[in-house]
Amino acid sequence: MARILITSAIPYINGIKHLGNLIGSQLPADLYARYMRARGNEVLFLCATDEHGTPAELAAAKAGKPVAEYCAEMWQVQDRLGKGFRLSFDHFGRSSSPQNHKLTQHFAGKLAEAGLIREVSEKQVYSNADGRFLPDRYIEGTCPNCGYDKARGDQCENCTKQLDPTDLINPRSAISGSTDLEVRETKHLYLRQSAMRDRLREWIDSKTDWPVLTTSIARKWLDDGDGLQDRGITRDLDWGIPVKKGDQDWPGMEGKVFYVWFDAPIEYIACAAEWVDAGKGDDWERWWRTDKGAEDVAYVQFMGKDNVPFHTLSFPSTILGSGEPWKLVDYIKSFNYLNYDGGQFSTSQGRGVFMDQALEILPPDYWRWWLLSHAPETSDSEFTWEAFQQDVNKDLADVLGNFVSRITKFCRSKFGEVVPEGGTYGPQETALIAELQQRLDRYQAHMDAIEVRKAAAELRAIWVAGNEYLQAAGPWTVFKEDPDRAAAITRFALNLIPFYAGLSAPFIPDAAATMAGAMGVEPTWPDSAEAALHALPGGHPFTVPDVLFAKIADEDREEWAARFSGVRT
Ligand code: 2FM
Ligand code: ZN
Repeated sequence: MARILITSAIPYINGIKHLGNLIGSQLPADLYARYMRARGNEVLFLCATDEHGTPAELAAAKAGKPVAEYCAEMWQVQDRLGKGFRLSFDHFGRSSSPQNHKLTQHFAGKLAEAGLIREVSEKQVYSNADGRFLPDRYIEGTCPNCGYDKARGDQCENCTKQLDPTDLINPRSAISGSTDLEVRETKHLYLRQSAMRDRLREWIDSKTDWPVLTTSIARKWLDDGDGLQDRGITRDLDWGIPVKKGDQDWPGMEGKVFYVWFDAPIEYIACAAEWVDAGKGDDWERWWRTDKGAEDVAYVQFMGKDNVPFHTLSFPSTILGSGEPWKLVDYIKSFNYLNYDGGQFSTSQGRGVFMDQALEILPPDYWRWWLLSHAPETSDSEFTWEAFQQDVNKDLADVLGNFVSRITKFCRSKFGEVVPEGGTYGPQETALIAELQQRLDRYQAHMDAIEVRKAAAELRAIWVAGNEYLQAAGPWTVFKEDPDRAAAITRFALNLIPFYAGLSAPFIPDAAATMAGAMGVEPTWPDSAEAALHALPGGHPFTVPDVLFAKIADEDREEWAARFSGVRT
């Protein structure tokens, strides 16, 4: 049994996430967590809300609420939606937690002791119209690297380059649009990431099995002369973690807070402490401290590609720079973007389908299956209503759902609601067992390698193989001539249901529970196809489950396509 620590990038607190966000991190992380648990490993799966920074302040102001109250409410909303999608976090924390305050201040203190923090007196953009310093992402302008005209002051969405606001050409306030900006003098702390370049390069170079998407982004910033600039880790804001050196005040830094991207990844660690403090675990250090047992933890992070620089360079700088034995990530699985119907999903523009809306129209398994089987791994992928309807109807209703319904109903009508006795498995069954064993091996290999689309394709092929078997074996015709043979076929096909339930549970946990429940078992991972297909003996009772997946009708598709064609208000 291995110990596996899994984190998903922590979503910003402001607003409900769209399906592109979901498939870019939380959902594949959940797939992997469920799979690893099913294989008998000890898993700690953590996520949280990312609560600091100006987006939260502005969203709270818009909602007319104090920011702490706004965050507490939005955490509830995100928690509820995560449960709605069956995201199986062991803890869903908050980056504003006292645990994260303490750890963030601790790391800053250690980095200062190691000489990796310098104080910089700098000029910062102040907006007279808005009456405040403008944080990086609230200054918009043209990217000096690629020319994109809506680049933000922290990062260009188009080319992923990390920016400083003063790099932008023709800057304006993203809050008011005002160009009445002035530069004022203020003092900030900088993390000397540049001093870490060689260690980071050596570390990235050792990760030969990482997805190319991850290493290519990391290398780009390491090799690019200015890619690993020192980063400001403090801000002139009210909401955030007060700047301290451990539990000591930091002279000259009064009234300032840490930058949201400094404290957010530290929340991965703090979240484990929250998990313990919530009474769900008893030792978080054995997951995070290599001097306390974490040396044999395998740590896997999931995120969208825009998050990769922060996780391959900035956060490792914090970890390595602290000089303390914290666990470094072992594998980073990153994703491209999912587009929506010919454009981008966009939170700011309200474009696409959001998590709450998705659950209002269909149960989570429909979304989980489609999104995971189209995960944007090797390139961006696209959600269209036509593809969604077609794939869901075929894979879930015609193949899997139909198989389960057909064989359970046939058995009930001919043998009653018990697995029939009589007859023996013949060459057709032996051949299918051999095929399924090969497919099972491949499916496991893809899941182990976190190749999400390939795993989905193999699982689909496993469902299809059962359907084809049933069609070819035709127990309904055989029954007239040879009821014993029909009993053996039926017994075999019924045994496929728990086999499918176990294998499908990471993708479609609700349907898996229904399938297993109908057969009177728990969804469990099969040891082998051979053993699994002999598991339910003759005489074992079952029930015919309700329809697993209703087909999406053309009218539904048209209505939804129209309903979600505009922007969310
Ligand atoms: O991109 C985002 O949604 C960020 N809130 C992710 C932060 S991940 C981590 F560093 F905590
Ligand atoms: Zn750019």
